[in-house]
Amino acid sequence: MVLVKGIILHGGAGTRLRPLTFTGPKQLIPVANKPISQYVLEDLRGSGIRDVAIVLGETCPEMVKEYYGDGSRFDVKIAYIYQGKPLGIAHAVGLCRDFVGEDSFVVYLGDNMLQNGIKEYVVKSLDGGYDAYILFKEVEDPTRFGVAKFDENGRLVGLVEKPKTPPSKYALVGVYFFKPVVFDIIRELKPSWRGELEITDAIQLMIDRGYKVGYSLVDGWWLDTGKKDDILYANMLVLDERVQREIRGEVLDSKVEGRVFVDEGAKVVNSVVRGPAVIGRSCLIEGSFIGPYTSIGNGSKIFKSSVENCVILENACIEGVSRLEDSLIGRNAKVSRNERSGVIRLNIGDYSTVEI
Ligand code: DAU
Repeated sequence: MVLVKGIILHGGAGTRLRPLTFTGPKQLIPVANKPISQYVLEDLRGSGIRDVAIVLGETCPEMVKEYYGDGSRFDVKIAYIYQGKPLGIAHAVGLCRDFVGEDSFVVYLGDNMLQNGIKEYVVKSLDGGYDAYILFKEVEDPTRFGVAKFDENGRLVGLVEKPKTPPSKYALVGVYFFKPVVFDIIRELKPSWRGELEITDAIQLMIDRGYKVGYSLVDGWWLDTGKKDDILYANMLVLDERVQREIRGEVLDSKVEGRVFVDEGAKVVNSVVRGPAVIGRSCLIEGSFIGPYTSIGNGSKIFKSSVENCVILENACIEGVSRLEDSLIGRNAKVSRNERSGVIRLNIGDYSTVEI
């Protein structure tokens, strides 16, 4: 049997998710109360991959190590590889040469999510004996991604990174299957216009030199969770598809409707919760309405408020806010109403966004 290893990219700057990414890597931002990179790890494990390397960036790498540990909690073995500055996806992959050895491997960007997972593509890439195997998804705005270029016979002839004039509507998904030959190609790369070693350049070179490069078009949704609205959208999809009703905590004088998960130690008092929604461990919800598509992190408190379509991280506190919608709230953040009408008081971090 061929051994396949997994690499999760957990670095990068996460500038579009500031201020949350000042105090943690973006891949640890939760969707339905679970870090995005945990969905990635579980997808690898569900595809039979147990040997995983996590590539760490500059932002709080110790948080990642603390969360995933040696991997035994997830039934995998994890090695950590430090990249530091985001010098490119190909640079990050290049650091994993010793970890990979002679095996085939999958590179999975830690902020990507696929509805149906990667299992069938692991099999296809191995069965076809490909040197590189990639995935595409048709998107409305390909300029944000690596984009496929096909010739008149529909053959893949190239990849263009973030093109102003896209050669097709097919975006490159952030999951790549390789044989170790890619390491020799990566060594030859020069930094791109954005100063990074691009994995698209490596695959382009492989195509140009006649290596066996294959691809599939992905069924189901694919998300690259780079911005606030991507996180809210991912949260909505995951709550819709994967959350079942289960009340482990306490519900007093309240209505809990539909698929709502209330975790251990959480208390819902004198409130209405309408699913799909997730309420984390030891949360306190009092005199409030929690509307659909809301995830509330462990230890958060919501008093006399109405919250809908929000992702709230751990130990946040929301008090007296009559309609909080479409919001992403960081750990230990406080949002409250003051009693003076027309007055707004703020104490917010750098690069925060406030809509009033
Ligand atoms: O999501 C798919 C897209 O991902 C592809 O279509 C593009 O071809 C590919 O370049 C990439 O584009 P992004 O602009 O979204 O890449 P980003 O800089 O956001 O990095 C992707 C992930 O890899 C993210 O989880 C951070 C991590 N990363 C990135 C770089 C540049 C690292 O761990 N190290 C790095 O040096």
